[in-house]
Formats: sequence, C-alpha cells, structure tokens
Amino acid sequence: MSDGAMIRVDSLRRAFRTGGAEIVAADDLTLHVSAGSMVAVTGPSGSGKSTLLHLIGAIERPDAGTITVDDVEVTALRRGKLATYRRGIGFVFQRYHLLPALTALDNVIAPVLPYKVDFRKADRARELLTAVGLAGRENALPAQLSGGQQQRVAIARALIGRPRLLLADEPTGNLDSKTGAEILDLIGELREAYGMTVLVATHEQHVAARADRVLRLRDGAIVEDLDLRDGHSAADTLARVDQLRA
Ligand SMILES: Nc1ncnc2c1ncn2[C@@H]1O[C@H](COP(=O)(O)OP(=O)(O)OP(=O)(O)O)[C@@H](O)[C@H]1O
Ligand SMILES: [Mg+2]
Repeated sequence: MSDGAMIRVDSLRRAFRTGGAEIVAADDLTLHVSAGSMVAVTGPSGSGKSTLLHLIGAIERPDAGTITVDDVEVTALRRGKLATYRRGIGFVFQRYHLLPALTALDNVIAPVLPYKVDFRKADRARELLTAVGLAGRENALPAQLSGGQQQRVAIARALIGRPRLLLADEPTGNLDSKTGAEILDLIGELREAYGMTVLVATHEQHVAARADRVLRLRDGAIVEDLDLRDGHSAADTLARVDQLRA
C-alpha cells in the first residue's frame, strides 16, 4: 500500500441501537497503523476502544467503512475467508478466558487443535509457555495459577497461530500494577521477537506510555493521536500521556 500501513481503517462507522437511542461506537473513524508498531487505544469507558478492536478483528461488522489488513480487505470477506483471517490474529482479553478443565499447555494448543498446521503443536505451545516465563507449569490448571500467570497463558495461547497482529483488550485490567507492567513488557518483548503489530486498549497510563503511539477516543472518534517514538524520557512520556487524560 502507498503509505506502507499494515492496518488501514477508513471512514469506519458502527452504531448500536438500544431502545430508542442510537449510540455511535465508531464515528467515521480513520486510522492507519504501520507494521510492527505498538499502539495504545485509550479513552473513557464507552468511548469505543473494544468496538474498534472487535471491528479490526472481524468479531463485529461495521455499518460502513473499510478495514484492510496486510492488503486484504477484511470488510469484504465472506464466512470461510473471514474465519481464516480471524485465525491469523491473536486476541487477549481482560478476563483471561482460559478453559478451566484444561492444563496450561492444552489451553495454549486449543485454538489450533482442530486445524492442520505446519508446526508441532505441543512443541510450539511449550516454547511459548517458556517465552512467557511459565516453563515447568505446563500441566498446571488455571485455578492453580495466579492472575498474572493466567494472563501469560492467555498470551501464549494468542500467539500459537503465529499472528502478525495481536489485539489486546485491557490485558492488565485485572492485575495489580506491578504484574500489569510485567505483562506489558512481555507483550513488548514478544512483539519484537515475533515481529508483530500490537493494538492494546487500556485505561492505564503506564500501559499507554509503553506504546509507540497513543490514540485517545471519545464517542467513537479519535480526538488525540500521539507519537511517542521521538526519544522522550519515560517521565516525559508519562507527563504527555497524563496531559491527554486531563
Ligand atoms: N453489543 C452492544 N449493544 C449495544 N451497545 C453496545 C454494544 N457494544 C458496545 N456498545 C456501546 O458502544 C459504546 C462503545 O462501547 P465499547 O465497549 O467499545 O467502549 P470501551 O471504550 O471499550 O469501554 P470500556 O472502557 O468500558 O471497556 C458504548 O456506549 C457501549 O455501550
Ligand atoms: Mg472495552
């Protein structure tokens, strides 16, 4: 594509009708994201962060506008190809959504279990659990793991299909700030190691400060777009992100 963007969201609109009222969760939203970047999506509750991630991940359909990812127009895909597209994306949620009866290893394998893949599933799941710092805990059940450890399993699970794009919706929302910071560092390291593009929705400024770029949404529209890759100190970056919140 001419501007080299991996994700191109153009004039996206998604409205919800509840009772008589219409809520516009994505309001003529245009956004281009370059490959390999980490973008934080911030904004108050109800501003449209999750909706944007769901639309890009093709969990939801827009009312209007287009989304192109890696030169594939996602908004034009039909069922079979849509499923293939979704399989190429890693999702991480605030509530880890692990299957309680499965071990950590089996949770990581679960997304690719029904599919033929060109790697050994258990080997890759083990590698990923090691990458997220859980070597030796492969056979633990979710209930035997801490919140931070469960989120690490969920991240490993999101990466099993070798996604080019990771969509994380408040991945640290259920964690204390220290564990949350560790999870964000981990996502940053894995992004570098696997060359992924990452979109992370968050309320937390210390999370946003770890991104290359911070968007702020309000009422389904981007009201701020801040580039953080210009050599500012961490304190300076925090101050700038803080200003966005004022
Ligand atoms: N399935 C739905 N039905 C009706 N309204 C919805 C639906 N999903 C989202 N909305 C509305 O769209 C708006 C945007 O919601 P969204 O979940 O994207 O916000 P958010 O920024 O992720 O908020 P939070 O920080 O609380 O997670 C909200 O007003 C919400 O109530
Ligand atoms: Mg949300």
